[in-house]
Amino acid sequence: MRRTMVAGNWKMHGTRASVAELINGLRHLALPGGVDIAVFPPCLHITQVVDGLKGKSIQVGAQNSAVEAMQGALTGEISSSQLVDAGCSYVLVGHSERRQMMGERDGTLNRKFAAAQACGLIPVLCIGETLEQRESGKTLEVVSRQLGSIIEELGVGAFAKAVIAYEPVWAIGTGLTATPQQAQDVHAAIRAQLAAENSEVAQGVRLLYGGSVKAANAVELFGMPDIDGGLIGGASLNADEFGAICRAAGN
Ligand code: 13P
Repeated sequence: MRRTMVAGNWKMHGTRASVAELINGLRHLALPGGVDIAVFPPCLHITQVVDGLKGKSIQVGAQNSAVEAMQGALTGEISSSQLVDAGCSYVLVGHSERRQMMGERDGTLNRKFAAAQACGLIPVLCIGETLEQRESGKTLEVVSRQLGSIIEELGVGAFAKAVIAYEPVWAIGTGLTATPQQAQDVHAAIRAQLAAENSEVAQGVRLLYGGSVKAANAVELFGMPDIDGGLIGGASLNADEFGAICRAAGN
């Protein structure tokens, strides 16, 4: 059985003071057993969050990492090895905001994914289509290409120690959520693509849904057979709402 997972992507939000408040809220949450929970603060706040959540079963991840695994001369970047040293367990790879705004391409993302795994970080590969791509019937083609890039470069076995997040771009931060069936259809296609290469890997990998997940829609989404949890943006900035989503995943 796959363990469900709920991850909170804080994006570029927070000050030391607001992060301290959020940590305090998270520390007071009653969390369900059997669910892996992680938060992804801005890099600047990772050590504050790691220290602040000591003893609470919430892991910490980064939102991005360098193409190189080890530290070196790469101004402005942070390596996977440094993230591990800071206490991270996970790193997001290829969030659509970085694909779109920072121009991150599959080749770069393959390197980031490999560098993360080389250091023992678990990459959370984010994939998903834009509204235009969905409306022109290209959803599965786009998602399959994004996933296929890692499979071709690193082999399907790379997903034995990775998580995949399906985040339709049109559902991110818009209040528009994919219906549980729309999300399930894409998740099933992702799992089938992996299964064509290795059924054991396909059955084991967690597929998270992201895009305007809230406590109010989480139960229905997480109830679908191929949805193993969520990657939460806006709602993860509110500890009580995030806790309610975590409990929905525990049901
Ligand atoms: P929202 O939950 O704010 O739509 O963001 C989703 C997301 O991008 C998580 O990575």
